[in-house]
Parts: sequence; C-alpha cells; structure tokens
Amino acid sequence: MLNLPPEADPAVAAEVDSLVAEHGRDRGALLPVLQEVQRRHGEISDLAVQVVADRFGVPPVDVLGVVTFYRFLAGRRGRHVVRLCRTLSCAMAGADDIGARLERELGVPMGGTTDDGAVTVEWVHCIGQCDRAPAMLVDDDAVGDLDGDRAAETVAAVRARDRTLRDEVAVRVGPTDDQRSP
Ligand code: FES
Repeated sequence: MLNLPPEADPAVAAEVDSLVAEHGRDRGALLPVLQEVQRRHGEISDLAVQVVADRFGVPPVDVLGVVTFYRFLAGRRGRHVVRLCRTLSCAMAGADDIGARLERELGVPMGGTTDDGAVTVEWVHCIGQCDRAPAMLVDDDAVGDLDGDRAAETVAAVRARDRTLRDEVAVRVGPTDDQRSP
C-alpha cells in the first residue's frame, strides 16, 4: 500500500478507500471512483491519482490515461458550468464577442475555471436555442438573446448566488477548505 509523504492529506486516502469499498477494485470501478472524486473536489489531484492507482494496483499512468481520455474528468471543474454555443447561428450573432466578454468578466480563458471554483466556462455546439442566438447554458438553464452585458450580468448573478449559498453553509457547518485563511 502506498506510503503517503508527510505533507499529503490523509483525508484523500481515506476518501478513496471509502469509494473503493463502495465500488470495488475491478478495472470497471476506476471510472465511477474518479468521477466521484471529481464531483466532490472539482478536480482530480496528483495525490488522488497516486492513491487510486495504488488501491487498484495499476500504474499511475493508467489512471492518468483514464482521466485524460474522459476529458470532462481532466482539470478542475467549477460548481457551475457556463456553456456558450459557437455553432453557426450563435457564431453569426456574435458568440465570439460574448466569449471574450465572459473571459474578461471571469478572468479565465474559455475552458477555464475561476479561482474560487465557482464557474467553469466553455464552448459547446448547438444547444437547441438557435432562435434565441447567441445563447448559452448556465448549468441546466438556457439563456438566449445574449449580448455582452446580459452575459456578464448572468455570470455575476451565478457567482453571487454561489457565494451566498457557501456563506450560509459556512455559518451552519463551518468554513469550507477554500474559505479558510491560509
Ligand atoms: S447554433 Fe447556437 S443554439 Fe443552435
């Protein structure tokens, strides 16, 4: 079994162990375990990759291969995902300008996640809102007839709601990891 370096968070190993107990150690369980780590933390850290590899008895490079293959597992994901359409109708209606505005507002490039872990913003293909182009999905909600201001106001509202919710949770159960001071 993997000996974690002293600075490693033992909670990661404990969490992976509980997921392995739930899903088993068969190769087919690798994906659900990784998905759950991703869902809980918004990312799959190098340490998590090492621990998962150890528990499944496979080389870390195999785990990384799964993470990379399933692109949605790779990289940090926000608690909310903004998907901006860049297919024809939206492209012709100015999706590129809106993408640039969102990048400025959020401070990350398309495909990136804000530092506070609140929002991931990315390009997608047609989301079935062509008659309201340009359009985007905010989590499961479609927002159409966008212009730069409407897009910026929408993501600002998402971040404000996210902050309020996390503040309420912090009052009830204590601060989350990213709310604690360093
Ligand atoms: S082309 Fe953008 S929603 Fe259909």
